[in-house]
Amino acid sequence: MKGTLLVVGSLNMDASIRVARMPRVGETILGEQITFSPGGKGANQAYAAAKLGTAVHMAGAVGEDGFGQTLCDHLQSVGVDCSLVQNVPTVSTGSAFIVVDQDGNNSIIVSQGANAACTADQISDEVLQSCDAVLLQMEIPLDTIESVVRRAHDFGKMVVLNPAPAPSDLPRSLYQGIDWLTPNETELQTLTGETCCSMEDLVHAAQKLLDFGVQQVLVTVGDQGALWVNRDQALLFPSRKVQAVDTTAAGDTFHGAWLCALLEGRSIEDAIVFGNLAASIAVTRPGAQSSIPDRAEVEALAADAIRPIRIR
Ligand code: RIB
Repeated sequence: MKGTLLVVGSLNMDASIRVARMPRVGETILGEQITFSPGGKGANQAYAAAKLGTAVHMAGAVGEDGFGQTLCDHLQSVGVDCSLVQNVPTVSTGSAFIVVDQDGNNSIIVSQGANAACTADQISDEVLQSCDAVLLQMEIPLDTIESVVRRAHDFGKMVVLNPAPAPSDLPRSLYQGIDWLTPNETELQTLTGETCCSMEDLVHAAQKLLDFGVQQVLVTVGDQGALWVNRDQALLFPSRKVQAVDTTAAGDTFHGAWLCALLEGRSIEDAIVFGNLAASIAVTRPGAQSSIPDRAEVEALAADAIRPIRIR
């Protein structure tokens, strides 16, 4: 039986420029032609899960401009229900300015725009009760996140918070409503104040999040894969080695694919492996949603799946 996913998060129009290297402070450099394409961490994760076969509802906010309609049309093209995306008349749709270097690394600045108007009352109790899992990121207001997490937790739903971008001071009460917290290495350091130079450091920092009240921590560690830490164990799931072209939305693809597999009833281990395979395809293609693979592409890599290594 397949479960339903509610994503509460951002929708952005991404403006991406490829450069030979990142500019230094105060420096002007020339880049390639700018491209505009659908993005936003919330929308990317919703798109990935839906493209891979999950029933997804998206809640968020866009401006009443051409970009907002384009972003919703793109989500709907893979079956995402956008009836909980509100149109805000007086602000622009969220946008992101992305610089991608030769190695596929990126730097992103987000202009929140209409995402700042996403409120918890867009999501009724009936909608929350009808879903199996709720996935949030941090490009929408913190009070919206706190309210949705609390209500979803009270209804016994699986709550996943991808703390991106991560603030240094998340309220402790928020952690207690979260089943899965899924930072990348940088976000893990920001949330815990720990310096992470080694895999042991990452495990130590993740355990601090467990002490704050989170049930499970899943750290995305770039091309090293994903690290799952709970009270009993720490397992590293290495990722398949590929030549990265653009890492934008690799983490978002991982989230959508991992949750897709979990909501199909697959084991946590299998779901993380599935997420890694999907992300390993996304990094070989440019853009955010444009890089996300379909199910056949991920399943074709089944023989490349790498089993986890026990760290602790
Ligand atoms: O995670 C990648 C996303 O971050 C981009 O699509 C951009 O919109 C920002 O939200």
